[in-house]
Amino acid sequence: MTPAGSLLAAHGLRKAYGPTTALDGAEFSIHPGEVVAVMGPSGSGKSTLLHCLAGIVRPDAGEISYNGRSLTSMTDTELSALRRSEFGFVFQFGQLVPELTCVENVALPLRLNGAKRKEAERTALTWMERLEVDDVRGKRPGEVSGGQGQRVAVARALATSPRVVFADEPTGALDSLNGERVMELLTDAARSTNAAVVLVTHETRVAAYSDREIVVRDGKSRDMERLV
Ligand SMILES: Nc1ncnc2c1ncn2[C@@H]1O[C@H](COP(=O)(O)OP(=O)(O)OP(=O)(O)O)[C@@H](O)[C@H]1O
Ligand SMILES: [Mg+2]
Repeated sequence: MTPAGSLLAAHGLRKAYGPTTALDGAEFSIHPGEVVAVMGPSGSGKSTLLHCLAGIVRPDAGEISYNGRSLTSMTDTELSALRRSEFGFVFQFGQLVPELTCVENVALPLRLNGAKRKEAERTALTWMERLEVDDVRGKRPGEVSGGQGQRVAVARALATSPRVVFADEPTGALDSLNGERVMELLTDAARSTNAAVVLVTHETRVAAYSDREIVVRDGKSRDMERLV
């Protein structure tokens, strides 16, 4: 049932919110180091699919397996431990903690995983250098540009060396130049650490950074053969 060699796979996912069917038998799989773009119209179920795959939302039916384990049968405690240690997240609007400096934001998931402050900030800074935002380390998120903020958010997502990065419209609030730079840095960093990236996007220009595209329509997903 699980495609051979896949790190994360879903089969027959269904999810309804009251009368609304968000997922209607969605399928998904991703290999280590692979970047998969999830595309499709607004309201088609892309974010719901991402939330189910990341263990944030429980599907009503279907199976999700991660690294040989059934995500659907894990407890909430097991799921939150998994999210903290093995998954990274980037959302459309950075969602950085406004009271913390940028380096403290990037260090936060490491601190939550038990790292000491100094060690966490050292690791955070190497990721900020890589994302070319080490110069804003001491600033708060309200004092940096949109593009810088998203690169800080990407550094935070990668700092714990996750096996899977979930990115929901990571460039949705950026102009195309900044968006492309964020995608370039995100996919380079993910490929160099063999992290898989689940990338939800509306934009073909952003999806062009993926290895494979999946299209979601009315809660159903299918593989799209690359035309280029
Ligand atoms: N928490 C919720 N409560 C009720 N309905 C929801 C909830 N989340 C999503 N939905 C509904 O489920 C459907 C799928 O939503 P989803 O957010 O997955 O779409 P999407 O493809 O990510 O759209 P967009 O591109 O606009 O972000 C929509 O009809 C939406 O209104
Ligand atoms: Mg969405």
